[in-house]
Amino acid sequence: MRILLLGSGGREHALYLKLRESPLAEKIFVWPGNALIAREDRVNAPAVVDNFSALEAFIEREKIGLTIVGNEAPLVHGVRDALKAKFPGHYVFGPDKRGAQLEGSKVFSDAFMREAKIPHGESAVARSLGEALELLPQQSLPLVIKADGLAAGKGVSIHHDIEGAKEKLEEIFIARTFGESGSRVLLQKFLKGQEASLFALVDGKDALLLPTAQDYKRALDNDAGENTGGMGAYAPSTDLTDEQKDFVRTHIIQPVIDRFEYRGLLYVGLMIQSEAKDGVAVVEFNCRFGDPETQSILPLLEGDLVEYLLWTDNFDVKFPIMQYGETLRLPHRRGACVNAVIAAKGYPAAFEKNIPLSFPENKNRNLQIIGAGIEERDGHLISTGGRVANIVAYGKDVAEARQILYAYLEDFKNCNAKTREKFYWRSDIAQMRQA
Ligand code: GLY
Repeated sequence: MRILLLGSGGREHALYLKLRESPLAEKIFVWPGNALIAREDRVNAPAVVDNFSALEAFIEREKIGLTIVGNEAPLVHGVRDALKAKFPGHYVFGPDKRGAQLEGSKVFSDAFMREAKIPHGESAVARSLGEALELLPQQSLPLVIKADGLAAGKGVSIHHDIEGAKEKLEEIFIARTFGESGSRVLLQKFLKGQEASLFALVDGKDALLLPTAQDYKRALDNDAGENTGGMGAYAPSTDLTDEQKDFVRTHIIQPVIDRFEYRGLLYVGLMIQSEAKDGVAVVEFNCRFGDPETQSILPLLEGDLVEYLLWTDNFDVKFPIMQYGETLRLPHRRGACVNAVIAAKGYPAAFEKNIPLSFPENKNRNLQIIGAGIEERDGHLISTGGRVANIVAYGKDVAEARQILYAYLEDFKNCNAKTREKFYWRSDIAQMRQA
């Protein structure tokens, strides 16, 4: 089958590497891809967001059988609906526009969770600065402010004082830092606990769980610094018990399936709260694989990813599934994966672009070098984004994976003597887990 994968980040590179293992994958195009994704399969065109005519022409010309939507923007704009209308027999991985609103609008998602009685942080909606300032005195600190629409992972901020919260609200409503995405905001109670990301592949009826991962959202070690799109992740995370997984499956994932006939990947961002009634609360829903969690999850997954993704869209296929209590899970191998993001200094605020970089030779088959905001010009690699690359290491346990990962990052520093001050990464990914 000829496959098209949409996106250009580390997540898409990780998906590409796993898809490539499938005997079903005759050819894989990545649109637009990045410099570290195999060049011959890359589509040199701007990323697909909301105009699908060029995409449809490409699918027709290249006889694509399966389109995998890696990033959220095309899903929120209805790429599945458009492709299914144009090519009824075409397989698409990702939910329809209605299901994707769970990520596309935080206000929509919050209202759905309230109605479906899904545990989540108490919240209030503001449609103007005036409304937000009126609501502010009733909120407890720390306070989470969420821009309603898509904001490239930057729309959520945590505030420990009212002054900082006011400044943020002025930025959103007056300076319009998030444009239309900030025309409404959620003021939400901060949830304390341990975060976990749980991904389920869903076919409109059933859900297959992938190994749980832990994402590191803050920019700096010890969870200091700003919120980012994610600075690293490890999998599997054992923080979520089997009973909690059953609870999430029955009381969180099933209501989503029932309401939206959801298919594709459902990302459930959770806060594990041992003292709370249900033990977990939802932080966010996303309608696609997480980045950088995917980079640590996929190397652990056994079986054929192409089959799994086709299954979500009614492709008749049988593969081994493991059952624990109420939950169906995909098989995965023993061991652990840890990844760290190499970011441009300054990220997630303003950062320098076009920094030359190179990667030391990879001599370890348990290590992957994953591209994200990176391009090639005149035969040289340069950074183009805030998250530039990921280094992913597999080990028999977390300690071994960390050792492989950080030894390579030390080599990366030495290999980039002239520019190494322009990059940073967290040195504490999975540190607590290595014992
Ligand atoms: N790692 C957070 C996200 O993918 O949204």
